[in-house]
Amino acid sequence: MLTEETKNIVKATIPVLEEHGTEITSAFYQHMFEAHPELLNVFNKTNQKLGRQQTALAQTVIAAAKHIDHLEAIIPNVNQIAHKHRALEIKPEHYPIVGENLIWAIQHVLGDAATPEIVAAWTETYGVIADVFIQMEAALYDEADWQGFVPFKVVAVKEESPEIKSFTVQSDAVQLKPVKAGQYITVKVHPEDETNDALRHYSICSVDTTHGLKFAVKRDVAGEERGMVSNYLHDHVKVGDEILLSAPAGEFLVETDNKDLVFISGGVGMTPLMSMLEDEVDKRSIKFIHSAYNRDAVPFKDEITKFHNNSNVEFFFNYSESEGRLTKEKLSRIINGNEEIYMCGSVGFMEGMLEIFSDMGIDRSRVHFEPFGPKMSITV
Ligand code: HEM
Repeated sequence: MLTEETKNIVKATIPVLEEHGTEITSAFYQHMFEAHPELLNVFNKTNQKLGRQQTALAQTVIAAAKHIDHLEAIIPNVNQIAHKHRALEIKPEHYPIVGENLIWAIQHVLGDAATPEIVAAWTETYGVIADVFIQMEAALYDEADWQGFVPFKVVAVKEESPEIKSFTVQSDAVQLKPVKAGQYITVKVHPEDETNDALRHYSICSVDTTHGLKFAVKRDVAGEERGMVSNYLHDHVKVGDEILLSAPAGEFLVETDNKDLVFISGGVGMTPLMSMLEDEVDKRSIKFIHSAYNRDAVPFKDEITKFHNNSNVEFFFNYSESEGRLTKEKLSRIINGNEEIYMCGSVGFMEGMLEIFSDMGIDRSRVHFEPFGPKMSITV
């Protein structure tokens, strides 16, 4: 239990943390990787370069400080992060490493302003926050379909669109269970020209694992750092090859069962929603809105054709090349405001949609989303 004095010190440091949050976490990462270069095998180098992880961690620490009297308020965020941590094999023994380096960074950036009292209060508070994560992650390890990264053989590769491929994998060591719709798997590869392992999450395309576990990967054409793993999978991994996978994870799941659904996806964001569609389509009415550059870029055409005959689902396609972006006007013609909305796409796409929903007066509690990239970097 934290004392009132400790809590007060932590609360009093919130403005300083907000001012220096990103600076502190940047210094933290640099210092930690110098002392523990093995952790470069777990962290996403692209997120580091783009500053995404720094923002995410800084925001989480500040959120925790703001809610220090009732840490349960940050549980939904912790749950989402804990799923990622479990998928990446983050273990209790990693937490003191992060803690020591975070405290060092606070001292380093704040200098004399970081009094022994402030340092002691934050050390204690970090311990309490870390315990929340560790406990939640222990439960996720217990319920995981398998432990650690296990070799899977690629049994099918399909070009779903010019930029998106699906990979179906099987393993003799794992008896696959049906997947929870909306979850992702985590792939570990070691590209030949890289010093470290690289881990990435990819959404699962189908809840049915009878013929293997199928996930989708979009080639990234944006630059050399981005898409390191995606492009490796696209260019080098073929049927018969082995890749390492940790068990399905993620809490982007359909939670209500009595409301009509709206699915909205941008690009490869269609993937988890296809799993959800498969799972929900016989239970209720679904409007599926997909935004793509043009018709060619739409993935999963075979599945879409199959679902077209189901009267419960209605598809709406927006082609930005010819029609521009999805707008409030377009969405207002489709959504009546009483549905539960699930969406997936890039961080920018999510932010755009959230702004439109706010303009439309749609209650945020009805909007569930999973961006590619840290969820907490979404600022809308
Ligand atoms: C991801 C917070 C401890 C490794 C994240 C994310 C947040 C976060 C907010 C982004 C989640 C998202 O993608 O939406 C925290 C907090 C921690 C903590 C508040 C301590 C209380 C740790 C520890 C490790 C770790 C101990 C391992 C040394 C990672 C990795 C990612 C991640 C590898 C994936 C993102 C990337 O690679 O860029 N964490 N974390 N975290 N965390 Fe933690």
